[in-house]
Parts: sequence; C-alpha cells; structure tokens
Amino acid sequence: MNDFEPTIIAFVCNWCTYTAADLAGTSRLSYPPNVRLVRVMCTGMVDPQYVLKALLEGADGVLVSGCHPGDCHYINGNFKARRRIKLLKALLPQFGFAPQRLRLTWIGASDGIEFARVMQELVEQVRELGPSEAKMKMVI
Ligand code: FES
Repeated sequence: MNDFEPTIIAFVCNWCTYTAADLAGTSRLSYPPNVRLVRVMCTGMVDPQYVLKALLEGADGVLVSGCHPGDCHYINGNFKARRRIKLLKALLPQFGFAPQRLRLTWIGASDGIEFARVMQELVEQVRELGPSEAKMKMVI
C-alpha cells in the first residue's frame, strides 16, 4: 500500500478554481500530478451522477471546487452544489464509499497558492484512505 498513488477527479469551476489552477501553473507552484481537472462552467452543473461515475470507474477521490459563496457567476450555483454535495456525502456509504472521498471547496481565481495547498492536502488525505472501495471489489 506504500506505493499507492491516488487518482483524483476534480470538477472545477471555469471562473474561479480553474483560473486558480492556471495561476498556480503560471506561478510555477507545484502540486501533485494525481489530480485530473474537469473544467465545468459552474459547480451548480456538477450532477451527482458525475461524482458517482468517477468513483465507480476508479477515482479514489473526487473534488468539487468553485467560487466562494456570493461570488458565483450564475448567482446561486455554488449554493446548489453545496446542498447536493452534503446529500451525496450522506449517501456515499450506501454505495460502499467512504464519504471522505468527496470534498467540496471554494478556491477563488487569485488563490493559486491555496489551490496548490488544497491539492496537496487532498492527495495526502485520499492516500491515507487507500484505494477506492470500487477498486478493492474489482480485485476480489
Ligand atoms: S460560477 Fe463558479 S461556482 Fe458558479
């Protein structure tokens, strides 16, 4: 388990977190290569099925990250996302996944340093959880 490298799918809002990721890159900040970014226009469009599909198809963790509350470009998309993610976290054990595999964060466009920090923290957290329960079932 020591050489386990988690795969993390991150649904990131085009206006904030994706821009922060871009800033982290142009600022030459390093963050783990384990994170695969999926750019969406708003966290409010992240259907819970996207999260479940990612986990069922081998992601060890999923991040949804967007604009801070009050800054959503579509008024209230991030509030909808917050409600959905809370419900989804409560349901994840029903699908056999630890709720800690899903995380919601707000990272603003100018927060390149925060983006790199959160990615590092997330990878460490998921590494401690070990491989996804879906992967473990595939092995059996
Ligand atoms: S536009 Fe960024 S979360 Fe809605």
